[in-house]
Amino acid sequence: MHLFLLLILHATAAVGQIDPAHCRYALGMEDGRIRDEDITASSQWYETTGPQYARLNREEGEGAWCPQGQLEPSDTQYLQVDLGRLTFLTVVGTQGRYARNSGNEFARAYRLNYSRDSVLWKSWKSRLGKEVIQGNKNAYESVINDLHPPVIARHVRLIPVTKPSTAVCMRVELYGCPWDDGLISYSAPEGQLLMAPGYPVASLNDSTYDGAHERRRLLGGLGQLTDGVVGLDDFLVTRQLQVWLGYDYLGWRNDSLGAPGHVEMDFLFDKQRNFTSMKVHSNNMFSRGVKIFSSVTCWFKPRLIASWEAEPVTFKTVLDDRNPSARYVTVPLRRRAARALRCRFFFADVWMMFSEISFQSEDTILPTLMTLSVTPSPASEGSTATPAPTTADPSASGRPDDGNTPILIGCLVTIILLLVIIIFLILWCQYVCKVLEKAPRRILDEEVTVRLSSCSDTIVLQTPPVPPRSGHTATGPTSTDPHYERVFLLDPQYQNPAVLRNKLPELSQSAEASACGGGYAEPDVTQCTPHQGFHGPAPHYAETDIVRLQGVTGSNMYAVPALTVDSLTRKDISAAEFPRQQLVFREKLGEGQFGEVHLCEAEGLPEFLGEGSPLPDGDGCSVLVAVKQLRPDATSQARNDFLKEIKIMSRLNDPNIIRLLCVCVTSDPLCMVTEYMENGDLNMFLSQREMESTLTHANSIPSVSLSDLLHMSVQISSGMKYLASLNFVHRDLATRNCLLDRRLTIKIADFGMSRNLYSSDYYRIQGRAVLPIRWMAWESILLGKFTTASDVWAFGVTLWEIFTLCKEQPYSLLSDEQVIENTGEFFRNQGRQIFLYAPPLCPPSLFELMMRCWSRDIPDRPTFEGLYQALRPHVGP
Ligand SMILES: *[C@@H]1O[C@H](CO)[C@@H](O)[C@H](O)[C@H]1NC(C)=O
Ligand SMILES: *[C@@H]1O[C@H](CO)[C@@H](O)[C@H](O)[C@H]1NC(C)=O
Ligand SMILES: *[C@@H]1O[C@H](CO)[C@@H](O)[C@H](O)[C@H]1NC(C)=O
Ligand SMILES: *[C@@H]1O[C@H](CO)[C@@H](O)[C@H](O)[C@H]1NC(C)=O
Repeated sequence: MHLFLLLILHATAAVGQIDPAHCRYALGMEDGRIRDEDITASSQWYETTGPQYARLNREEGEGAWCPQGQLEPSDTQYLQVDLGRLTFLTVVGTQGRYARNSGNEFARAYRLNYSRDSVLWKSWKSRLGKEVIQGNKNAYESVINDLHPPVIARHVRLIPVTKPSTAVCMRVELYGCPWDDGLISYSAPEGQLLMAPGYPVASLNDSTYDGAHERRRLLGGLGQLTDGVVGLDDFLVTRQLQVWLGYDYLGWRNDSLGAPGHVEMDFLFDKQRNFTSMKVHSNNMFSRGVKIFSSVTCWFKPRLIASWEAEPVTFKTVLDDRNPSARYVTVPLRRRAARALRCRFFFADVWMMFSEISFQSEDTILPTLMTLSVTPSPASEGSTATPAPTTADPSASGRPDDGNTPILIGCLVTIILLLVIIIFLILWCQYVCKVLEKAPRRILDEEVTVRLSSCSDTIVLQTPPVPPRSGHTATGPTSTDPHYERVFLLDPQYQNPAVLRNKLPELSQSAEASACGGGYAEPDVTQCTPHQGFHGPAPHYAETDIVRLQGVTGSNMYAVPALTVDSLTRKDISAAEFPRQQLVFREKLGEGQFGEVHLCEAEGLPEFLGEGSPLPDGDGCSVLVAVKQLRPDATSQARNDFLKEIKIMSRLNDPNIIRLLCVCVTSDPLCMVTEYMENGDLNMFLSQREMESTLTHANSIPSVSLSDLLHMSVQISSGMKYLASLNFVHRDLATRNCLLDRRLTIKIADFGMSRNLYSSDYYRIQGRAVLPIRWMAWESILLGKFTTASDVWAFGVTLWEIFTLCKEQPYSLLSDEQVIENTGEFFRNQGRQIFLYAPPLCPPSLFELMMRCWSRDIPDRPTFEGLYQALRPHVGP
């Protein structure tokens, strides 16, 4: 019952949320969707440097907006943009005045003011309280700054800041997405400090709240509850770096508020809305006295000036004492219409902590249609330039008289249908007419290179100063054609590598060369003979269909050369059958499509295994083990895979690979029993630690040293060296799959995909295959080819994770789609691919090693043996 409810809660978790990582669409300065009259300024130098020329990458007028005269340090001049609607703003891009090499004015720094109503202005502050944002260093490069925290605003002012007095000019683009929640402010009691003996103090205040603080209440602003950052299961662990403990949550203690027993919050919206639900992301770490609320009661106010309606909506939650994960709780609001809401959340324990609140409402039919036709779909951003049909003016047709309404709706529906058909035809044409050649190139237009710099959130987009006109003929028409295709991940091409290869002769050649020519992993000579009807030599031995990736718990342990599997027989299962009744269930660790992983106590296992068992010296006769179990209703395919996995695992015997201890296969459900690692996985372990330094003693966060990190790397390379020696391909090497035992020995395993926690590390192709694309080599993504060499690539990414202490996801600035497009760049190898940056902690020689793991050509990548040899000398004896 509990589990069932939990599943529902998890399933609805992601819907209706703003995700700052994806909400990064250009809002229309460059492409003109923001109209001239919506761009204003405090002053302008000449007509030709008016605010309407402040458009990024455009060269109209004299090439930029410039405020009047020399800017003195004490001056406040600003460029103001009206976005036309409430917007979740995540990124600002600026550029100077280049004017085809005649301008040289730019803003080295600027501040940002924003407003939701154009009356009350607030100044933006970073999470650490800084107001000034670093701007440009020359007149032509654009510099992109992530806003941490993002802001919700309709009007934005950019205020250039100078130290010496200089002339300043700016071009600008703003990035974000519409704020459909419509929430313009919330008020709540101030968050509190959590002090408990033996634990560090956690500050559960709303540190980015942009409203007023009055009599211990937050009033009239938005803050951490709407910043799109969802808190982690442990409220002491923060997603942001360099902030205090408890940063992500706003929390209250049950006895410290005026009205005991509940927290009262007010929510104000931009207009009257019919609310369907409210989602509250809440911590549930009951071991520390934190629980989701026991019930909530909401009152509604239809208009601003009105009293609260008498009848509230009340919702009781199902309290959960088993699963300590933070989760979204969805509160149904019964489609009540309101402009303001007042909700009382009742305590279920001593503490209540929220990290996000969002609202879902239905708009009237007409506005929905209007926004559909007015707002360009985000997907078209930067890709096939299907200009948005902006002819429909919402204000002109927003209030049709009653008689015309049905006709109008009919017309709109027809127009939309026509548009859909036209877009479909365009896409279809592109799909048919062009090959993949130019496909995965969307990240940045034309001659732009990106450098992701490590120490700040600043990306420098470099446009070469003088676009050499003659260069166009040299580079050929394809590279100057801005209308490149968008990648369709759901395209059958991507799910069937063979189709893709046949379409791309150069790709198939390179694949052959690397499969047969490279001295890598010594593939059998016989595997370079034609088979399966592919033209030319056959693919690499370990190539398997992407779709088959999904195995027992949503993952296959190891891909094995087909020959090896076929030659295995029953007697190859060297693991013994364990009496099932001696496994006592303790906890569920994870689950996948075809099975679950449980933590169990195995009674009498040490005696059962006898001498030389790899078990840690326990205290008694029972030990904790991880039990991977196939669902009884699993397909026969899954069953076969499961048995195969058992066969393979039972042959693995290495100190750095997780050990199969025993199995239960004589009756259903099939189980395999492996070691259980008390210290969890390496990702978790490192992300909760800091680099050892002289300062670390001052705070209480545990630390690791550089030599610890190197030692971990050596162990992983050693385990992988062993797998490679058996020609086993892991396919999902990452820190989340490296487990740590009591003595911090690393053992490579495969539970990552079955755990919810890491679901964002995987990319789901139409519900069929789940792929860890940020760890995958280009040939694995584009060709479905998994080899030891692609494991080496993943090892490089794993090293990178280790040396960033797992504080961020690889390519965290890129969306999944962009990562896949970047893969295309790796394949083309024209210098446009984005590499992971060098982690600040990482010795340069080690970063060189990582870069070699990400070589395009397989023979250029090191072997695990080579990696092991290269890493080992760095670690003390
Ligand atoms: C920016 O906002 C601050 C309030 O936070 C205000 O004092 C200042 O005048 C504003 N500046 C401009 C140019 O709007
Ligand atoms: C929140 O708490 C932290 C740490 O105690 C403090 O530095 C910060 O100023 C507080 N912020 C607000 C807005 O009260
Ligand atoms: C508040 O917490 C205390 C424990 O500190 C508990 O005894 C009390 O029942 C709680 N009150 C409510 C309303 O939950
Ligand atoms: C809200 O619902 C009421 C009744 O169900 C309906 O008359 C009204 O048009 C709806 N309003 C909006 C903004 O959807």
